[in-house]
Amino acid sequence: MADHVLITGGAHRLGQLLVRSFAQAGWHVWCHYARSGDAAHALQQELRAAGWAVDTVAADLAHEAEVLAMMAHLAQRSGGLRAVVNNASVFEPDTGIDFDPALMRRQLEVNLIAPLLLGRELARQQAARQASDPSADACVVHLLDQKVFNLNPDYFSYTTSKLALERSVALQAQALAPVVRVCGVAPGLIYPSGPQTDDNFARASRVNLLRRAIDPQDVADTCRFLAENAGLNGVTLAVDNGQHLIPLERDVMFAVNTVKAQADHG
Ligand SMILES: NC(=O)c1ccc[n+]([C@@H]2O[C@H](COP(=O)([O-])OP(=O)(O)OC[C@H]3O[C@@H](n4cnc5c(N)ncnc54)[C@H](OP(=O)(O)O)[C@@H]3O)[C@@H](O)[C@H]2O)c1
Repeated sequence: MADHVLITGGAHRLGQLLVRSFAQAGWHVWCHYARSGDAAHALQQELRAAGWAVDTVAADLAHEAEVLAMMAHLAQRSGGLRAVVNNASVFEPDTGIDFDPALMRRQLEVNLIAPLLLGRELARQQAARQASDPSADACVVHLLDQKVFNLNPDYFSYTTSKLALERSVALQAQALAPVVRVCGVAPGLIYPSGPQTDDNFARASRVNLLRRAIDPQDVADTCRFLAENAGLNGVTLAVDNGQHLIPLERDVMFAVNTVKAQADHG
């Protein structure tokens, strides 16, 4: 029987690539969605028609009861998940001097608490599985952001949530041992966000050591590598063409004009 994986926020963008990548590698994928039911079901149909195992599941990750109900449903339907990829996130602009506590709480709920809760629930499912098979492997992969290694004060609440999640990779690996492995993936800029124009994205996406856009497929492949490699635990891989080694005073979306001006002046 195929191993089951839950991928949160699987309907679009990186989540959709993750769903495709895991399904085409033979995993039974649970594609989670909140508002994007139509897109999630279309992806499910497309992949099923090609012979891959994909199901969908809905939950608002800002609500604990929905997270727990989803995991109980998945435990019943899958016989126990083998992996969770915490991809869903909220990314809202704010700063340390104007942030709205309600919006910060929502980002902490979705970007930090839900991923940790899903890891906890995976460990509970896995403990039952290991009673009959002590060598059974399970893994949580947390999607982070290269920002956690390359701070600037933009997207203050979002960055706070990802910083805490980054520190939680090792902490949760210790807490869930020896039942579940916990790893992180820190992408650089891979998709345009909010009001970002195509031109701004095209320039900003090359602000990294390799001066070319980061391939989202590399990010998806790295998540699968971590989920499938039973020797990796408590580690985070930056998949960002070296973006975290280029310090900027502001988010690259806002700093890209300065970077260009500096480049123009040698
Ligand atoms: N985009 C980038 O350039 C970039 C750079 C660095 C790191 N990352 C990280 O990589 C991951 C994927 O990025 P992305 O840009 O592809 O993500 P995204 O499009 O911003 O969001 C992914 C999904 O999160 C889900 N989501 C938001 N709020 C939710 C809630 N309350 N409950 C349940 N689901 C919720 C949404 O699902 P529905 O559509 O179903 O509502 C959304 O489609 C994120 O963790 C992000 O922080 C991205």
